[in-house]
Amino acid sequence: MKLKVLVVAGDGIGPEVTGEAVRVLRTVAEMGGHEFEFREELIGGIAINKAGSPLPKATLDVALESDAVLLGAVGGNEFNALPPNKRPEAGLLQLRQALGGFANLRPSFAWPALAQNSPLKPEVVNGTDIIFVRELLGGLYFGEPRAWDKEAGAAWNTMRYTRDEVVRVARVAFELASSRRKKLTSVDKANVLEVSQLWRATVTELAPQYPDVTLEHQYVDACAMHLMNTPRNFDVVLTENLFGDILSDEAAVITGSLGMLPSATIGGAVNLYEPVHGSAPDIAGQDKANPLGAIGSVAAMLEYSFGLSEEANSVYRAIEEVLNSGKVTADLKPAGRPASTPEVGAAVCEAISARAVSA
Ligand code: IPM
Ligand code: MN
Repeated sequence: MKLKVLVVAGDGIGPEVTGEAVRVLRTVAEMGGHEFEFREELIGGIAINKAGSPLPKATLDVALESDAVLLGAVGGNEFNALPPNKRPEAGLLQLRQALGGFANLRPSFAWPALAQNSPLKPEVVNGTDIIFVRELLGGLYFGEPRAWDKEAGAAWNTMRYTRDEVVRVARVAFELASSRRKKLTSVDKANVLEVSQLWRATVTELAPQYPDVTLEHQYVDACAMHLMNTPRNFDVVLTENLFGDILSDEAAVITGSLGMLPSATIGGAVNLYEPVHGSAPDIAGQDKANPLGAIGSVAAMLEYSFGLSEEANSVYRAIEEVLNSGKVTADLKPAGRPASTPEVGAAVCEAISARAVSA
């Protein structure tokens, strides 16, 4: 099997972390059975500077012909004054829309080796295992009309969902919950927003089709609090686009570092894999970034895009071994000298190879 992977490394620490994730895929390929063909294209700020657009046509064309896309990060301080549709982030949003994946899966897992890393007490976070299903193509990110009328001193965005958009993402969440601990928490602001009332009514309507799943609804503000107080009470959390953006960053506190969090966007023509963290310009180019979020994202790629669950598991186990070994980057506050980005990548690859030999 030859699998075509497009790598759009993007800005800041993007190239550093995707470099290690690609190294991991190459190591997986050495285990046999399949090959990867990597292509690299521009996205984000570097694409604006080199090709005049945050999503050049070449990138989009190659993406649509690929079996999966791995993205690093987009954004940089030099672009902060630009309007939203000219910024590096616009390239990512256009790519998401073109690929069509509407369900963004973001796990938040309390790795035992990182129990001391979270500012939350170990007895609060221990055993936490949450997956957010964030709707990725609707809501305020894409709703029209949107504008900033400078003369009028007013700006507006539109939160809009159709019933069908809620149904398709809710089905992903119900099915995931059914394969896990069978609890689904749907997040909304139905005490204030009509969109949320549609959201809640639609999710409720589907529930009888998934009788093994217990459905609960939480307002987003309450959910933000419960996530910190009782994170173990969550299994699958279903959210609209902006709520999911915010809550998934919050949930990084459970894991102990945003650098740990992977994501997978499924449901479209081509699935998209990206760490949850951003471009982190403050540490870019210094080999300090944690590559485990990107490496976890390619593990998800093996699982969801290629059906290689054994290989995916071997990457997850390798991540665990590296965490246990303490050879981790500075964000994970190791006891000794922090490891560099390539050192962590190499350690993951070694653990994968060692497992393959002993298996
Ligand atoms: C994320 C990021 C993006 C988002 C930005 C970079 C557009 O914050 O993936 O969480 O808001 O979706
Ligand atoms: Mn975000």
